Amino acid sequence: MTDTKQRFDAVAQQWDQNDMRLSLAKNITDAILESVSFSKDDCVLDFGCGTGLVGLNIAPFVGKLVGADLSSAMLEQFQRKADESGLSHVETLALDADANFGTWQFDRIVSAMAFHHIEEPSRLIRKFSRILSNKGLLAIADLDKEDGSFHSDNTGVYHFGFSREEWVRFFTENGFEKPSFVQAHTVSKNGKTYEIILCFAAKA
Ligand SMILES: C[S@@+](CC[C@H](N)C(=O)[O-])C[C@H]1O[C@@H](n2cnc3c(N)ncnc32)[C@H](O)[C@@H]1O
Repeated sequence: MTDTKQRFDAVAQQWDQNDMRLSLAKNITDAILESVSFSKDDCVLDFGCGTGLVGLNIAPFVGKLVGADLSSAMLEQFQRKADESGLSHVETLALDADANFGTWQFDRIVSAMAFHHIEEPSRLIRKFSRILSNKGLLAIADLDKEDGSFHSDNTGVYHFGFSREEWVRFFTENGFEKPSFVQAHTVSKNGKTYEIILCFAAKA
């Protein structure tokens, strides 16, 4: 069991009991729904889905939504909430960024606040490119570059946010068009502000 899995497993049950996380996820979801087209024919992956604060609110607009995460406890919360909401076209997938993604095919991939936990973001975006259909869309929301003070404990945090230049490189070197950016949310805490940027592009 990886340290990251253990850490997220331990907080999964209480994850939604935090107003900062709820408003962050709501604004990311709104930014994704405004920037990315979805249809009832689309099969959508939410990578690093957690308890589904983003993915389960996109699910009503798509044909199928798969929530993928390395934390089985997060996936249990995700599935419980999907069942309680009667979202029968939603399923979960236990998946680590380092694993083989197999033969899955998706029309859209979204990811919220997971990439700063990913050691090699460019490598993961290359994997996304392989499992996205032609002209499929990728939308990733995460912290803009920060000074390392966003998390009270930076264990398992591989990146203190990302610059737009980094996203352009990650996307274009892995088969995506030059991405667009939207400022999705501002987190204010401990007298500081942290910008959350949504970055999205089509597979070239
Ligand atoms: C900050 S939470 C965000 C959860 C959710 N997307 C949200 O916005 O509420 C990050 C999530 O990414 C998952 N994660 C971290 N590293 C991962 C990895 N290497 N592979 C798959 N999931 C990972 C964690 O288990 C956790 O659920």
